[in-house]
Amino acid sequence: MKNITIGVIGAGLIGRKHLAKLAGRGDYDLVGIADVNSDRIAADYPGTPVFADYRKLLDEARPEAVIIASPNQLHAEQGIACARRGIHILIEKPVTDTVETAASLIAEVRKAGIQSLVGHHRRHHQQVRTLKATLGDKRIGDVVGVSAIWATHKPAAYFEIAPWRSQAGGGPILINLIHEIDFLRFTVGEIVAVEAIASNRQRSFAVEDTAAALIEFDSGALGTFFISDSAVSPWTSEQGLGEAPEFPFSGESSYRFLGRTGSIEFPALVQWSQAGGAQDWNKPIQAQRIHASSVDPYVAQLDHFRDIIRGNARSLQPVEDGARSLIATLAVAEAAAGGRRVDLRHRYETLASPVVPATSDQQRAS
Ligand SMILES: NC(=O)c1ccc[n+]([C@@H]2O[C@H](COP(=O)([O-])OP(=O)(O)OC[C@H]3O[C@@H](n4cnc5c(N)ncnc54)[C@H](O)[C@@H]3O)[C@@H](O)[C@H]2O)c1
Repeated sequence: MKNITIGVIGAGLIGRKHLAKLAGRGDYDLVGIADVNSDRIAADYPGTPVFADYRKLLDEARPEAVIIASPNQLHAEQGIACARRGIHILIEKPVTDTVETAASLIAEVRKAGIQSLVGHHRRHHQQVRTLKATLGDKRIGDVVGVSAIWATHKPAAYFEIAPWRSQAGGGPILINLIHEIDFLRFTVGEIVAVEAIASNRQRSFAVEDTAAALIEFDSGALGTFFISDSAVSPWTSEQGLGEAPEFPFSGESSYRFLGRTGSIEFPALVQWSQAGGAQDWNKPIQAQRIHASSVDPYVAQLDHFRDIIRGNARSLQPVEDGARSLIATLAVAEAAAGGRRVDLRHRYETLASPVVPATSDQQRAS
């Protein structure tokens, strides 16, 4: 079968990770990179066409698919430019920077009929898939709630090299919690309301360093989430999963999912239950480990992108779904700022406009 021609927009931290993973896959032919720092990128990727203007990548290299790994504010414009040319997109998280731009992107993706996949790579971990299946099979009964922590101490250099990280929008809610919110939506179900408080007492930046959120799921399950970038702990998904070498592996569980007939620690996947399915606090409780193999989620994500482009799978996360994770995460920040409960249902509804069928000249043959 013919390889998929692909381009990458934005060769920064995550764009380079995608480029490295692409190099190891047999299914893709890299036809170009677009980055405003084209001279530097051209020196680092000799032999690959590099464009300073991403539109030239789209029009001259004519890829069938593109990975958008540029700053958040550019995702909508670049995604729309791809859609209008019939180019499939793997778009980094957050899908866009605002709900309004997400709605514009969704409309164009639907109109063009292209395939879209949002880069919430955690969905591609085998441990996450196993957790989702275990909860879906009701092995701990109906989910009653979840208790979660994401806490680590970011070094001073993290803020010095990018001063926007100490301003509004640069804190752990919008940078880190969005992955966790997406993970919870994927595994437990839709989030319908949030409440939150936030604090900047540890670093005294304009943005929060610590927050606590209350989450209500559509199923009626409730959740609590503590997040901080100013506390040393082994409890982040990155450390627990051993997701990348820059986050030393702890193997520790930062999530506890509580069900009517048992509970599960994640990512260690330790299931707790009572003999014979008993639900009695006077009966002994025992643990059982559930096995899940470890895969590189970025590689698994590329494999899934290939499958949806070839029509062999449905996208695990089209742009509409990425927009829901954005809405829920923005709502945590809003709830913390306003000190009130934010209901999300009507916000999701604003994204649900009808699908516009694609015309044949908008779709390129792949
Ligand atoms: N899924 C993940 O694990 C993960 C991890 C980090 C970042 N991200 C997301 O990826 C995106 C990029 O983040 P990053 O940390 O790699 O940022 P970065 O600043 O390291 O890289 C962004 C790159 O985009 C380039 N760029 C800027 N304007 C451009 C333009 N107009 N056209 C083409 N290129 C342009 C920059 O020169 C830079 O090389 C963000 O949306 C971020 O949220 C995802």
